[in-house]
Amino acid sequence: MPISRRQLLKTLGAATGVAVLSGFTDETDARQVIPDLSANPLHKKPERAITVVTLGAGSRGNVYGNFALSYPDEMDVIGVAEPIPLRNERYTKKHNIAEANRFTSWEQVFERPKFADAVLITTPDNLHYGPCMAALKAGYDVLLEKPISPSEKECRDILALAKKTGRIVAVCHVLRYAPYFVKLREIMHSGVLGEIVSIQHMEPIEHIHMSHSYVRGNWHDRNVTTPIILAKSCHDLDIMRWLIGKPCKQIVAMGNLKWFRKENAPTGSTDRCMDGCAAESTCPYSAMKIYYRERGWTYVFDLPEEKEKQGDFILEKLRTTNYGRCVYKMDNNQEDHYISCMEFEGGVTANFSMEAFTSYAGRRTRVMGSMGDIVGDMETFTVNDFRTNKSTVYDNSSGDGHGGGDWNLVRDWLQAVGQHNPALLTSTIDASIESHVMGFMAEKSRKTKKVEAVRV
Ligand SMILES: NC(=O)c1ccc[n+]([C@@H]2O[C@H](COP(=O)([O-])OP(=O)(O)OC[C@H]3O[C@@H](n4cnc5c(N)ncnc54)[C@H](O)[C@@H]3O)[C@@H](O)[C@H]2O)c1
Repeated sequence: MPISRRQLLKTLGAATGVAVLSGFTDETDARQVIPDLSANPLHKKPERAITVVTLGAGSRGNVYGNFALSYPDEMDVIGVAEPIPLRNERYTKKHNIAEANRFTSWEQVFERPKFADAVLITTPDNLHYGPCMAALKAGYDVLLEKPISPSEKECRDILALAKKTGRIVAVCHVLRYAPYFVKLREIMHSGVLGEIVSIQHMEPIEHIHMSHSYVRGNWHDRNVTTPIILAKSCHDLDIMRWLIGKPCKQIVAMGNLKWFRKENAPTGSTDRCMDGCAAESTCPYSAMKIYYRERGWTYVFDLPEEKEKQGDFILEKLRTTNYGRCVYKMDNNQEDHYISCMEFEGGVTANFSMEAFTSYAGRRTRVMGSMGDIVGDMETFTVNDFRTNKSTVYDNSSGDGHGGGDWNLVRDWLQAVGQHNPALLTSTIDASIESHVMGFMAEKSRKTKKVEAVRV
């Protein structure tokens, strides 16, 4: 029988006699709903909507572009560059884009004189540098998806050109805009916890998500995209850096691809799950189960709108794309578990685990301070005060899009562009480069098996 979180805590306390629970009353002393961030006093009513061109009308291009549909007075998508005809067509219709402003690739946008205020760069990881440099040269402000670039040199080039041109570059470190993390950081810096001593942070990718994105999907080959520590976890390195509020001095990392390998393929498995695989009916990673029977993760297929056509459409995709292939027989090379330890200025330490094999998602963060601690899972976090033995639970009310971070970022970025003031953003290119360097150094450490200094 499933048990509640409170029952579980009681059981753990009773079973282990842990002192941790003994000082604190089992009942929560207070409960607060984490407020929405929309009422930022620095925001001004825009005089006109900021005009943008979207480069890459895939998943993220739609997430950010959709903001314009709900807030047309703040953002107007007037152009698109997208090579997949159906995506280009759908995006054009959705935003009512003029024919003259439709392009099949990002380069074409910059062959024209500047015709919008800003660009959204939501192309694949290896296509961030080219469009970002071209946009800055042409005088556009930029919303740039993470990772900034797969190469440290290119990240630094973008930073240098952003500084030289004075344009705004916001990096999509969306967690910095999630009310959950904003509140958590506020509490960490309020003194309630005393001195911050250390952090434990975990990114449970969830096993199906791992198989979808990093075994079968767009990020399965680190050489074509980015190593997973940047592709998935630059968010985590970034949020730890931001929460602690001090520079990272050194980092050490370990990790490897343990499970999604040819030698672990079940007996009787076939190259594609639909080709009579003997293990299909019991395999948690069966493409037939995930995409066809449960209809999960199908956004990548650009399904036909008519429901009755969708089944055959998915089967065809499973027959012809990587999404139908056996997870043990892919050409994947991303680590499925990755750990790193960091030391920040002032001796604050942090542990990070990126884990594929979990039944749950939602980042877990524990903060240890001299006078209190925090335990959180992105839905709620609990602040325990050692001096009073009181606990307060903070509830994350807005759950959508990275805990509400996606659209809060877009709004801050539009305000920063409209007011020509990068200070309205927390994830400027300057602020974001450091966590990317942490990622590059983690990768170096994983290979050299040495502790690496982090120098920005
Ligand atoms: N901030 C986050 O939390 C977050 C989450 C997921 C992905 N991402 C990042 O966002 C970026 C986009 O990811 P996605 O999930 O939207 O991928 P996606 O594949 O859904 O979208 C990328 C789009 O770019 C298009 N494209 C390819 N070449 C192009 C070109 N030359 N010119 C213009 N468009 C081109 C593709 O056809 C595709 O439609 C990636 O860098 C990814 O790592 C960030």
